[in-house]
Amino acid sequence: MFFTGGDQWKVLRQNLSPMFSSKKLKNMFYLIEVCSKTITEYMRSEIQHSNVIEVRSLLAKYTMDCIGNCVFGVNTGTLGKNTDNNPFTIMGNKIFDISTYRGFKMVARAMWPSIFYSLQLKMFSEDINKFFHNLLTDVFKTRKYKESGRHDFVDLLLCWKQKDFIVGDSVSNNIKGEKSQVQIKVDDECLISQCVLLFAAGYETTATTTSFILYELAKHKDAQIRVVKEIDEYYERHEGKIEFESINEMPYLQACICETLRLYPVLGVITREVFEDYTLPTGLLLEKGTRIHIPIYHNQMNTKYFPNPEEFRPERFLGEEKKNIKPYTYLPFGEGPRMCIGMRFAKMPMVTALLAIFKDYRIETTERTPKSFDFEPRAISTQPLGGIYLKFLSRN
Ligand code: HEM
Repeated sequence: MFFTGGDQWKVLRQNLSPMFSSKKLKNMFYLIEVCSKTITEYMRSEIQHSNVIEVRSLLAKYTMDCIGNCVFGVNTGTLGKNTDNNPFTIMGNKIFDISTYRGFKMVARAMWPSIFYSLQLKMFSEDINKFFHNLLTDVFKTRKYKESGRHDFVDLLLCWKQKDFIVGDSVSNNIKGEKSQVQIKVDDECLISQCVLLFAAGYETTATTTSFILYELAKHKDAQIRVVKEIDEYYERHEGKIEFESINEMPYLQACICETLRLYPVLGVITREVFEDYTLPTGLLLEKGTRIHIPIYHNQMNTKYFPNPEEFRPERFLGEEKKNIKPYTYLPFGEGPRMCIGMRFAKMPMVTALLAIFKDYRIETTERTPKSFDFEPRAISTQPLGGIYLKFLSRN
């Protein structure tokens, strides 16, 4: 879906959206909660070797575990022992390969999509497709192509199998005022593509954002103290349990997530194609087919919209001050019909990881922690050059 447009995108989007309702996410939450226990155990054992941990790698393993559990319906074991040869880690690294050639393909696809497709270029290599094909057809077969009661995305997608097609509206309906419907055939390939999409769109984005949150909280002791207090109070209210309600119950923690996404939007630029000729209020004509690149990072770091933009100040996203944010100047999840479908899902692994970590530890920077980051220019998403090393100190 991420790389499609037109009717194909619209039908998939309409049929995937209900899978991200509060009810469905709440049903799935127990799978994330299991991963929070695994990260707690993993950290206990890691800290026996050293209390300085590279958090990008830690969060990549944890997020892989969450996504594997919810999207593929399997335990990936990425937080287990001897994980260097874990096939999920290898595939994750391949998807986010940051070679110059991949960087070139990303730019080419955004700027000249017709040339990209006429050269039959592909974003992902054949072995990635093969790995997921084998993995998921096994999962489908084990479940006999029916819901298993696990409430994960595989279950939700297998509901599509009850009919041979999924149906949705044509994109042209909005313009022509018609009500024409479009069908997409549901076969294994269709189901597998959706799982791979959710993995590719959800894994790196969520893992990197959570590492940036930890980095900023390690640098800003006052903010960390406030977060820890909010987390302690949460645990008191919920008898020490991590529950679905945690996602929206801690306003300061939420503000820290928002402020981190302002400083480090996962996609620095998003692209739209003009669907119909349109004249802006300034008189500028946008011709049909023109590609518009929206500079999210630039806007979020613009002093006009965010005073002292380099400063980490979660208060921008709290109470009355939040109302000062001008519409469309803050777009970490995009906006409009193509905005991120996984925004609410992403909060589950992020908040859960923070709850699990701050229950047991305070964090500090070390001499290896950079003061600021240069970003990897060839990566799909915003990624720091190098690791993020932080010191974990037991709270007990
Ligand atoms: C911190 C985490 C995340 C961030 C910052 C993020 C950000 C974004 C952004 C900026 C877009 C493009 C929106 C646009 O063009 O307007 C996007 C699209 C998308 N995201 Fe996310 N995302 C995150 C996590 C996730 C997760 C966990 C999932 C799925 C489980 C997901 C699934 C998708 C999909 C499927 C699209 C394509 C939507 C479409 O084309 O209709 N994302 N995301």
